[in-house]
Amino acid sequence: MARKHRIAVIPGDGIGKETTPEGLRVLDAAARRFGFELELTHYGWSCETYAQTGKMMPDDGLEQLRAHDSVFLGAVGWPGVPDNVSLWGLLIPMRRDFDQYISLRPCRLMPGVRSPLADRMPEDIDFVVVRENTEGEYSSSGGRMFRGTEREFVTQESVFTRQGCDRVMKYAFELAMKRPRKKLTSATKSNGITFTMPFWDERFAEMAKGYPDIKTDQFHVDILCAHFVQHPDWFDVVVASNLFGDILSDLGPAVAGSIGIAPSANINPERNHPSMFEPVHGSAPDIAGKGIANPIAQIWSGALMLEHLGEAEAAAAVTQAIESLLAEGGPRTRDLGGNAGTVDVGKALAEVVARG
Ligand code: NAI
Ligand code: MG
Repeated sequence: MARKHRIAVIPGDGIGKETTPEGLRVLDAAARRFGFELELTHYGWSCETYAQTGKMMPDDGLEQLRAHDSVFLGAVGWPGVPDNVSLWGLLIPMRRDFDQYISLRPCRLMPGVRSPLADRMPEDIDFVVVRENTEGEYSSSGGRMFRGTEREFVTQESVFTRQGCDRVMKYAFELAMKRPRKKLTSATKSNGITFTMPFWDERFAEMAKGYPDIKTDQFHVDILCAHFVQHPDWFDVVVASNLFGDILSDLGPAVAGSIGIAPSANINPERNHPSMFEPVHGSAPDIAGKGIANPIAQIWSGALMLEHLGEAEAAAAVTQAIESLLAEGGPRTRDLGGNAGTVDVGKALAEVVARG
């Protein structure tokens, strides 16, 4: 019997509807070549669902997803539905309820891709942002009072727990142990933020004691952003709170050429719940429906999913296919200076994966 993985597929909105089929095309090629089966369940949950039902997903949506090994998602969000409604109606409940406390976001300058930092080589830009994905600055603790009056005010409190800090830092240290450079950088802001960030620094120092082989450093997040651009070669694994990690993981791929190639994994390391794999980018309303979105971010997210599912060989075949397509001048979309369509790139990659 072939190994079988049950995958919930949520294309979502905008270019998610175009990139997800290409992700599935490449996953299917990998499954055939490496002899495993993907049992897919498709869910049309999106801002259209919201327009029809007033909800991004049914009340038992999370229960439906729970029966799967992983969730493969495109992007959620569309003009007409406030972004906080679409995010909190689908993505954030999944991250929270499935305790996907790691958001893993690799940033690599792929061969043949022109970086805005054009003299950099692929070995100069190869780092991973590990973002805390369940608490921190994205809390639901706060409120709004005296709405519409001169006294109107709002508060939103950050929540940093010892358990929340420790587990994301542990994941980051373990990941750094597996990479050749064995280096971990912490993103902080303990100069301006006087309770949570000094606590974050304390937990980082404490955790570092258990990993004497890892070189550690830390930067305030503002200068860290500057260093990402000016010295991307300094970084290997970077651990950050929810908000800082969100910002750094858009900046990282921008430095590596295009957000159209940046993948992400929302991981529940204990595997008590499904993990979720999605591109870093959103639904790109400005280019949606034109067939020109870059599917590489989606396809690379699929490779991260395969790795999580224990299909390491298939995962490597997919990332190698991306590398060779880009290095050898294969079809590329406009964001990378080409004129190929979404489907052209998907098909080309599926062929390389199938062929090996
Ligand atoms: P976006 O990532 O959708 O687009 C930003 C820019 O990057 C646009 O110019 C777009 O054309 C370009 N771009 C993005 N992906 C691309 C691809 N694969 N190939 C080529 N170009 C690409 O971010 P934006 O415009 O801030 O958000 C649009 C919607 O997506 C909003 O509703 C937002 O809430 C949602 N969103 C959802 C995310 C998710 O589902 N995880 C993440 C980010 C945004
Ligand atoms: Mg983001």
